[in-house]
Amino acid sequence: MANQGITDPHPEPINHGRRRFLTATTAVVGAVGAGFVAVPFIKSWNPSERAKLAGAPITADISALEEGQRIILEWRGQPIWIVRRSQAVLQALPTLDDMLRDPNSENPEQQPEYANNELRSIKPEVSVLVGLCTHLGCSPEMVAQIAPQPFDAEWKGGYFCPCHKSKFDMAGRVYQGVPAPTNLVVPPHHYVDDTTIVIGVDPQGAA
Ligand code: FES
Repeated sequence: MANQGITDPHPEPINHGRRRFLTATTAVVGAVGAGFVAVPFIKSWNPSERAKLAGAPITADISALEEGQRIILEWRGQPIWIVRRSQAVLQALPTLDDMLRDPNSENPEQQPEYANNELRSIKPEVSVLVGLCTHLGCSPEMVAQIAPQPFDAEWKGGYFCPCHKSKFDMAGRVYQGVPAPTNLVVPPHHYVDDTTIVIGVDPQGAA
């Protein structure tokens, strides 16, 4: 069944975690509207409702995803973020290592082996993350701009969880001194072609 843009395929009923996810999604739409001239048509598509309930993989077309933008999908009841990072963001990531709790992604629970690199991704510019804070499961806000923020005067882009003020960089790596204990999770995923990602299935031959 076709889905377009940042949408909510299951509007009712919702639980509290789901409500936080939706609140964050609404905030993202507002942030995109304020920060970018236009939101291009972003297409994604999902399998049937029955397949999704069974935790089946989902497929996303990222061909219209522009720098600084994010697609939000749902997989196994979790928000999945796909973000195209700018060169400025990629260059800033290594400068943050000293401020992070697990800069080298040494916790194997938080990402598959094929995403265990400095950028925590298969392709440098495209980040795929489970959008749930590793503290108590709120959905953090994306603040991709490299600019001072009320919560961090030296902000280099990343994710801010307003629930208890945890911070993550644009690779989902958690800062030191915040409640969240670990980096955001990178879900299993692979590329079918240059602009098509399947969430829920490892690349062929991956351990
Ligand atoms: S749930 Fe994110 S900081 Fe507590």
